[in-house]
Amino acid sequence: MRTTTAVKRVHNFGAGPAALPVPVLEQVQAELLDYKGTGMSVMEMSHRSAAFEEIIQKAEADLRTLVGLSADHSVLFLQGGASLQFAMVPMNLRPAEASADYVLSGHWSKAALKEAEKLGRARVAGSTEASRFDRIPTQAELDLDPQAAYLHFTSNNTIYGTQWPTEPAPPAGVPLVCDASSDALSRPIDISRYGLVYAGAQKNLGPAGVTLVVIRKDLLERAPGGLPAMLDYGLLAEARSLHNTPPTFGVYVVGLVLRWLLDVGGLVEVRKRNEAKAALLYAAIDESAGFYRGHARAESRSRMNVTFRLPSEEMEKAFLREATAEGLDGLKGHRSVGGLRASIYNACPIESAQALVSFMSEFQKRRG
Ligand SMILES: Cc1ncc(COP(=O)(O)O)c(C=O)c1O
Repeated sequence: MRTTTAVKRVHNFGAGPAALPVPVLEQVQAELLDYKGTGMSVMEMSHRSAAFEEIIQKAEADLRTLVGLSADHSVLFLQGGASLQFAMVPMNLRPAEASADYVLSGHWSKAALKEAEKLGRARVAGSTEASRFDRIPTQAELDLDPQAAYLHFTSNNTIYGTQWPTEPAPPAGVPLVCDASSDALSRPIDISRYGLVYAGAQKNLGPAGVTLVVIRKDLLERAPGGLPAMLDYGLLAEARSLHNTPPTFGVYVVGLVLRWLLDVGGLVEVRKRNEAKAALLYAAIDESAGFYRGHARAESRSRMNVTFRLPSEEMEKAFLREATAEGLDGLKGHRSVGGLRASIYNACPIESAQALVSFMSEFQKRRG
């Protein structure tokens, strides 16, 4: 177990809500009773106060620097999780008579499609469900509608442990929409290729309760009139995420995480760190002579969620029990894949991946 300020911390491999950077937690702790001389915590202050205005503006500015966002994109800090975006995207971006394309690469892309179907027309533009979502479809496998209102994909499949190596290419003029809930800001992206990216904060960006949306400004014009205010991107962008009371404390912590990402060297450095952690774990699987078996095919492996099985369910239970006792927490796989899942988001340090790899090797020696 790791220790900070005499507190015992586990190696946290939870899929989300997930580990936050220790320097961020320490800053939250230091500022909890008196945020910068205001005499109150961020939880207790008005969302219309100068102090909070500065927090939300700084968070947006740091996000713009990190991703390289131009004035062409708006940034929104919303609520309702990624799940609300499953509905807001079609409500705002798909005209009444139009259809939208969805690539199915896992549970969450199916959930997004389901919501879109409740509200209008949607099409499956590709799926790897036939092989239990063990891979990402290739561009050649996609069947794309050149008239689609947008093309939706899920960049990282949290449950199955697969990740798009690079984004799919939509037909000319079709905006690309991405659910990046489990790999947002884990690597550089070319944002000019996207119409809209959304992510629940609770894996890579901060605490649960904040949803980040980056949207190309011209798409703000698309929404039909008469949408409820809280579901209308245009109105929310106009109000700079302050139409109603935003999740103030969550936005503050997201802001600290964004600053931390800049401080450690930005997204190129973050990608390097994430690749190093993933390489350690996949090497442990590949070099185990079949004792550990990865769910994802090699070319589609996620750098965020490493999913693997052991020779039997009994052995998996023992692994989990013993790992937890050693301070390796949150490794239980999702029931639809079974086995184990190590989530190694941005804030998971390399020491945690090293500790897990040593445990895997030692467990195999004893049980293999
Ligand atoms: C890729 C992906 N999309 C969407 C969701 C749902 O997110 P939320 O709970 O924020 O609605 C999750 C949650 O794990 C996820 O991993």
